[in-house]
Amino acid sequence: MTSTLEVGGARPPASVSRAGSIPPSCLHDAFRSAQAWELANGRPSIRLHVGEPAFAPPPAAVEALGAAAREGRTAYTSAEGMDPLREALAEKLERENGHRTRYDRIFITPGSCQGLAALMQSVANPGDEILLPRIHWPIHLQQALLAGLRPRFYRLDADFRPDLEALEDAGSERTRMILVNTPSNPTGAVLERPFLEAVLDVARRRGWQVLSDEAYEHFVFEGEHVSMASLERDVPEEERLVYSTYSFSKSYAMTGYRLGYVAVPNAAAGDALRVVQEASIVSPPTPVQYAALAALSDPDATARNHEAVRACRDRSLPRLVEAGLLRRVPEGGWYALLDLAPTGLDAEEFSARLLAEHGTAIAPARGFALRPELDADGRVVAVTEDPRLSTLVRVAFCGDGDQLETGVDRLVALATGGR
Ligand SMILES: Cc1ncc(COP(=O)(O)O)c(C=O)c1O
Repeated sequence: MTSTLEVGGARPPASVSRAGSIPPSCLHDAFRSAQAWELANGRPSIRLHVGEPAFAPPPAAVEALGAAAREGRTAYTSAEGMDPLREALAEKLERENGHRTRYDRIFITPGSCQGLAALMQSVANPGDEILLPRIHWPIHLQQALLAGLRPRFYRLDADFRPDLEALEDAGSERTRMILVNTPSNPTGAVLERPFLEAVLDVARRRGWQVLSDEAYEHFVFEGEHVSMASLERDVPEEERLVYSTYSFSKSYAMTGYRLGYVAVPNAAAGDALRVVQEASIVSPPTPVQYAALAALSDPDATARNHEAVRACRDRSLPRLVEAGLLRRVPEGGWYALLDLAPTGLDAEEFSARLLAEHGTAIAPARGFALRPELDADGRVVAVTEDPRLSTLVRVAFCGDGDQLETGVDRLVALATGGR
């Protein structure tokens, strides 16, 4: 299925910029539909379309944010962020992630999203290729296209893990980097150590840099979270390949604080990233950095939040497996990717009915595997959808447990109603 973009024809007019040619994220579409329903009906929908947690930021973080603002600790910091926070994060990475690094390899970023975008700009050049998983978070694709990168896609197996046999041949001589996201949004897959070792092995052989998105590091429910960078802890810095991004949004429920961090492999990588940060953010927000320091001092926060999401998962998702809509309960992350094929409805139609008739919002998955066709300037001239995703939807299970249960009941009722 090929959709012709509004830019029209096989080539966007010269006045359309690269950014203007990139399709909006399907997640924002789902968000807007739910908002419109809420406005029309005067009540909240059951919001299973977004990863917004039911739990709150650590009270100490809230207090520290307010105190910093009240006390005027609001001046710019360096582009990299405050040193005490970077030092605390270097310790955390060593202790929790087995990632041996130094405080001056760490950059505080306004959300890990900005860190990912900045890395794509600082590591690669326009025209270079980036490898993304076949099913990916749509923002990764937007970021790559904005940086002028040409995406290629690597195959996934039935459990949404990289198909290692195909990986070696997934790139070309123009491939510069590979993105790995574990636990994954939207699939919930967790990559075990042997997978990550194999990916790193191929990357080293092929000369690819590795971008490791670990936003859901604290939400692994089966097995353990393995940080890609821990696999090269004994490699000399100059030979390291892994760039890691982490977030406070999920682990500490600080989504709107906009707070994440990046660990770069060596000094040269830091020099390049610093320029991007100087030019795009000047510095990360200061009161939020004080909130981060306070959040890190809450010893139980991440375990509490992990348990809250696990409880939701265990309470409601087996129902979806029993109904034949989910192959297995996800091993990690905040999302499950359901296949509605047994209902005979496509994902868009099903999601629209679930919202209109049952006030429950979910995200159709077609936007998680778009294939853009680019012109020589990296502008998108056409987008192909992967028909295998036409019956898939994403359901977030990080929210309120009762709401999730009600939403799942309604979803199963609509899915099985006609059977
Ligand atoms: C896979 C993935 N990476 C990164 C992020 C970005 O998180 P933030 O910018 O809030 O740190 C998200 C948010 O949903 C995500 O799902």
